[in-house]
Amino acid sequence: MKEMITERIREDEILKRIRELAEEINRDYEGMKLHLACVLKGGVYFACELSKHLTVPVTIDFMSLSSYGDGMTSQGVITLNQDLTQNIAGKHVLLVEDIIDSGRTLFYVENMLKKREPASLEVCALLDKKCKREADVSIKYVGFEIEDYFAVGFGLDYAQKYRNLTYIGELQFKED
Ligand code: IMP
Ligand code: MG
Repeated sequence: MKEMITERIREDEILKRIRELAEEINRDYEGMKLHLACVLKGGVYFACELSKHLTVPVTIDFMSLSSYGDGMTSQGVITLNQDLTQNIAGKHVLLVEDIIDSGRTLFYVENMLKKREPASLEVCALLDKKCKREADVSIKYVGFEIEDYFAVGFGLDYAQKYRNLTYIGELQFKED
């Protein structure tokens, strides 16, 4: 089977939308310090680009979770591979994710982080596959709502590949 990628969201559209999200966040967090909690590895490209346009004081930390194996379907079990390195108690935390699909990963991580008593906890995701939602989660900042296709690029992978694409593409499999 051959892997085929069709461009769905252009790089300039992504960069423009990220600047808009940053402006919204700058307004919402005016006078506050913001702590970005980025979910590895997919959220990294988005978090870095977003942070460049934030004018409020920003700190950033990373955590790693897995819900998908090397395939395209969720394993249903979420594992915390690597926790944040800093305490979030009393901080305004913005969780940065690449994509929210079923919402199970977000549900798990939100519950875990809430117990640490941050001053506030909101979510920012580059992509939202709303049509696939199973868990009850709310996402304050969404880059793009997408239909049910397998997205790669701008941090999103298939079997660890394609994260470095500058655009968001749809991955499909074709007979050789
Ligand atoms: P959820 O728990 O079903 O919301 O899955 C969230 C995680 O699954 C994301 O953080 C991604 O790592 C991965 N994922 C879900 N949909 C896609 C996709 O279309 N492309 C790449 N990764 C995806
Ligand atoms: Mg992810």
